[in-house]
Formats: sequence, C-alpha cells, structure tokens
Amino acid sequence: MTADASLSSGAPGHSGGEGQLYGYEEAPRILVVDDETVILDVLKDVLEYEGFVVGTASDGASAFRELGSEHYDIVLTDLKMPGVDGLELMQRMRSEGLPTKTIMMTGFGTVETAVDAMKKGAFDYILKPFKPEDVVRLLRRALDKQRLERENVALRETLGYYELSEALASGMPLGDQLQLIVELIRENFQADGVAIITNDPRDAGKFIARATTGVASVMPRIDHLLDQFKGEARVLVHGNDVQQFLLNPRTAEHIAQSFISAPLRVRGQTVGIIYAVSVRAGHRFTEGQRKGLAVLSSRAASAIENNRMHEGLRSTFTETIEGLARALEAKDPYTAGHSDRVAIYARLIAQSLGMSQPEIDRVYHGGLMHDIGKIGINLSVLNKPQKLTEAEYEMFKSHTVKGKRIVEPISFLNHLIPFIYSHHEAWNGRGYPDGLAGTDIPFDGRLMAVADSYDAMTSNRPYRKALPHDIAVLELTRCAGKQFDGDVVKAFIAVIDEFRRQRREQGLSTPD
Ligand SMILES: [Fe+2]
Repeated sequence: MTADASLSSGAPGHSGGEGQLYGYEEAPRILVVDDETVILDVLKDVLEYEGFVVGTASDGASAFRELGSEHYDIVLTDLKMPGVDGLELMQRMRSEGLPTKTIMMTGFGTVETAVDAMKKGAFDYILKPFKPEDVVRLLRRALDKQRLERENVALRETLGYYELSEALASGMPLGDQLQLIVELIRENFQADGVAIITNDPRDAGKFIARATTGVASVMPRIDHLLDQFKGEARVLVHGNDVQQFLLNPRTAEHIAQSFISAPLRVRGQTVGIIYAVSVRAGHRFTEGQRKGLAVLSSRAASAIENNRMHEGLRSTFTETIEGLARALEAKDPYTAGHSDRVAIYARLIAQSLGMSQPEIDRVYHGGLMHDIGKIGINLSVLNKPQKLTEAEYEMFKSHTVKGKRIVEPISFLNHLIPFIYSHHEAWNGRGYPDGLAGTDIPFDGRLMAVADSYDAMTSNRPYRKALPHDIAVLELTRCAGKQFDGDVVKAFIAVIDEFRRQRREQGLSTPD
C-alpha cells in the first residue's frame, strides 16, 4: 500500500455518511514519539500531508498508553527520552505482543545504541537531523515489509482454519457443528464474542441466533450488514466505524473495538451472517482472520444446507411411507390401524433391545410398511370372513413377495425389504416365503413377526374376535423358540406391561 493510494481511499467522507465501503485499505497509522515538541509538530505536518494518520506522544509512557487504546502500524520514536526511552517502549510493546513496527530516531552520539535496538527487533533507525522525505521513504519501506508479512500470516491462518474446518465431523447434529465453529473462531481469533445468525426458516423476514459464544449482547445491524454483502464488501472495521455496524456497540462493561463478518451463502443466496467482535482496547482483527472467517462461514453454510436437504429428504421419505400405509388401509378396512400398531410394537421391541435411534426409526418405518404387499391381493380374499381355500391361502401368502416387488425399484425404501419379505418366516422353518429357520431368517423379519403376531392376536379379524392381552402373551411365550425368536419375545415381554400402563395413563387405548 502506498501513501498515495491511502490518500485517495482515506479521503474525507470515507469514515462517515452514506454509501461508504467498509473494510477499505485504511490510511497507515503512525505514532510519533519525541520529547521535543518541534520535531513532533514538523513530523505530524509532513506525514499527514503524505496521507498518513498521525498520533503523537511526548514520552515512552504516554506512547504506551496511546498504543493501548488505538491501533498503530508503525511507531517512530526518539531513542533518548526522559523516563521510558525508545528502547524500553519497544520492549514493552514486544512483551504485550503488539505487531507494530518500531523505527528509532537517534543522534550521532547514540548510533551504537540504535544498532543495538535493531538487534533487539527495531525495524530500522534514522539519524537526526533528517530530511522529511527520508522519513517518508523509510516509513513506506516499513509498511511494504509489514504488508508482505501480514499477507503471509493471512495465508497461513487461512490454510490452518481450512484444515480445522474440515476436521468438523459431518455426522454431528447441526446445532453442535455451528457451536463448534463459533468456539473455534473465538479461540483462534482471540475474539470476545462470536455468533452465527440465520434467517428464520419459518419467518423469512426474521433472523435468529443459531450459535453464540462470549459477549453476545453486542449485536450487528443485520440489515445493514446484508446490504454490505450485496456489494461483496469486506467487513473488517475498527474503532469508531464499529459503532455504525452495531445495534448495541456498548454494554455496561464493554465497548466494541474491532469487528469482522462474513456472509453465509447457500447457492448464491445470503441466508445469514457470521461475525466476531472484540471489546479489548487497541485489539484489532487482522485481514488474515477476516479471510479465515470467510472459510469457516462457507463451512457453516454448507452444514446448514446439508441439514436442510437432509430434512427435506427425510420428510419426503416419511410422507411416502405414510402415504403407502394409508393406501393399504383404505383397501383393507378390517386391518385399519394394524400397520400403525405393528410399527409401535416393533419400535418398542427395538428400544427394549437397546438399538440405536436411526435403527429404531428404521424398525418403525418397517412396521408401517410390512404388509404393503397386500395392496396386490384380491379384495375378496383379504376380507373373507370364512376359512381360506388352499388356493386363496397361497394367494394371501404371496403378499410378502409382492411387497418386496413393490418396494424394490424405490431405492430409498430398499432398507425396509427384510421387514416386508421375511415377517412371516418362522424360527422352526415352517414359515414363508422361503421357509428359512433360526438365525438364517433376517433379524428384521424375526423382530417384525413378534410385533405383527401380537397385534393380529389382540385385534378383531373377519373370522374371529380379538384375544385378551394375557392370552396373547402366553401364546407368544409358548411359541418362543418354535415360531418366534425367543430373544425377541423376551425383549417384547420385558417392556409391554410398562408400555400399556403409560398408554392408559395418557388415555390411549390398549388391547384388553
Ligand atoms: Fe403380513
């Protein structure tokens, strides 16, 4: 950055009024420290004319205080001063971790001390008396060096955050992922507050905080920020400019000092923002951190987008299954509610067996779908009150095979096939369609057989009245190890009484 460039970008009007761009390359800020007022005055005039923003201090101690409340790129300091001298000032700055470069001004008699100061980390020194253009040239050289260093740091930081962001586990719930991101930013950027704000999916005009950490009461004006993002503005603001960005720039304890923000973009649309704020005097976020924030914001945006897609798919899936189950019930009024109840009993067994939540959900869906093949069975057979003829029974039995054929072409329902195809297999090998025995029967089929049989026994059928609960349980126990997998029966019996008690408590029906 040259002083000329900063003159134009730092022209009057850039730091107030309408239509301004935030995050511009600011005019470089120089703190001049000298105990001779004449030198301070002359340097201030010359450097301001060259486009620098200039602060002055007459000794090391007040310079150090000034550095605590304002950011400076370079400190141009006299070496010999009463009290805290240039060398000590530089050492204090270093121990505070300030990135500001120091240039020493010195007379002939103290050249050796100046060289010593350079060994200790000063950028350069200039001998008094000097020509103003020599000072300007030296400052520009220092600023160029500083810019290169900052760009290197920026690149390193960006790469670091990219790796970190990739380390986020994709299987995590969305809320946890977003929280991890804000914590990561707070820690890595030494931010005092970080938040992710998105538009409310239920109310497009509103914004909700999805994850926050630290000083959350300092809030940006979201509409204002979103306007900035339309113009692809880089948002990195400090000092007074921060006030224009924030709804509540100060609280009882804090005043915002530095602020960075990036948009959350999903398919070209800005769906929210991510921001970090610092309330420590003199602290400034860097350009590298702003870039790092942009990387993490795209990670957060894709987490939000994946979640939306996943939710969309899941509701399509659930709607499809429920639609199919309803279609079946419409055809077979005698078994109205059968699929729903079997699904509930199957889920109960899955819970009793300690299966994972996704597996429990799958079992539940399997229950809803297990008899889907009956859609392909002749109505008169399905609802016949008398005993079926052998031919009719063979036809009825084909509902397992027919169900499998219905679901097979629908890839997102394929994982439910074992429930549909194998729920009439028997442990002793006398079931259908394949006559498999014991553990050769898919576990899904063994589980569903118990849920299905319990509901069949405790429901009215065209050809008989419902059995009481106790009798049905006795029948399951009697047939454990013969028709049913004994472990599944055990898991069901372990929880069915408590389940019935809870249902009655909620005023819901249970078999007598
Ligand atoms: Fe069935």
